[in-house]
Amino acid sequence: MHVNPRATPGGTPALEVSNLSVRYGKAISALADVSLRVDAGEVVTLMGLNGAGKSTIVRAVTGLLPVNGGSITAGTITSYGTALTGRSPRYIVRHGVAQTMEGRRIFAGLTVQQNLEVGGATRRPADVRALQAEVLDLFPRLAKRRGQLAGLLSGGEQQMLAFGRALMSSPRLLVLDEPTLGLSPKLVTAIGDAISAIRERGTSVLLIEQNAVMALSVADRGYLIEHGRIFREGTAIELRDDPELERRLLGLAEEAA
Ligand SMILES: Nc1ncnc2c1ncn2[C@@H]1O[C@H](COP(=O)(O)OP(=O)(O)OP(=O)(O)O)[C@@H](O)[C@H]1O
Ligand SMILES: [Mg+2]
Repeated sequence: MHVNPRATPGGTPALEVSNLSVRYGKAISALADVSLRVDAGEVVTLMGLNGAGKSTIVRAVTGLLPVNGGSITAGTITSYGTALTGRSPRYIVRHGVAQTMEGRRIFAGLTVQQNLEVGGATRRPADVRALQAEVLDLFPRLAKRRGQLAGLLSGGEQQMLAFGRALMSSPRLLVLDEPTLGLSPKLVTAIGDAISAIRERGTSVLLIEQNAVMALSVADRGYLIEHGRIFREGTAIELRDDPELERRLLGLAEEAA
């Protein structure tokens, strides 16, 4: 069986979301009683259809919910034993949590190298150089384009840059929001390889994906979310073997209902 030797079930989790409920404004309930866990050293995937609440979980974890008009109405979020609930994005980054946002959000007017430097803003200059060398080693396509304006990169290269920029803060927990969206199969494989490589270094990952094949090929465990509620969790192997999962992720179960 596929067991991650670095994962430490039973130890202090990299991320623990407990009974989390989130609203946008007064009317929209986006999450209801969501609980999930990423153990230290684990890659955990969160899968679900459009609008299920995946990015809302990301925003709650990274402190960006208020910027989006959302608020936590119940529940707690902790990372390595520290409460993150209600903390600022700056505090959360310093605690070791980094994210890539949906839609890449790189700085189009800066070069590849400058984007990476921004990602390393919380690190010392000597560390930034070392981290940048590591990131360019992980993504050789970016190394060749260091001086190029990021806005001129292809979609897949921008996705790699967003990933690389998140790694520049040397996170203990990396949250990736749909890193393969719109990418060709070859680049999906490259992103999967990069996730496996950073897992080897002991970084924990919460991977938001709609591409279940890719997600379950790199993850240790996974959760499925539907209409703001977690309705299924299991090891990657259990989920891969579940025919119901495919129906759900294609939206077929909803259509039939
Ligand atoms: N800023 C916002 N204001 C109001 N409602 C929002 C806001 N952001 C998200 N929502 C609503 O909350 C629900 C969950 O949205 P969320 O972005 O978390 O879904 P998602 O699973 O990430 O979807 P996708 O796969 O399309 O990115 C949706 O019904 C959405 O319309
Ligand atoms: Mg989303």
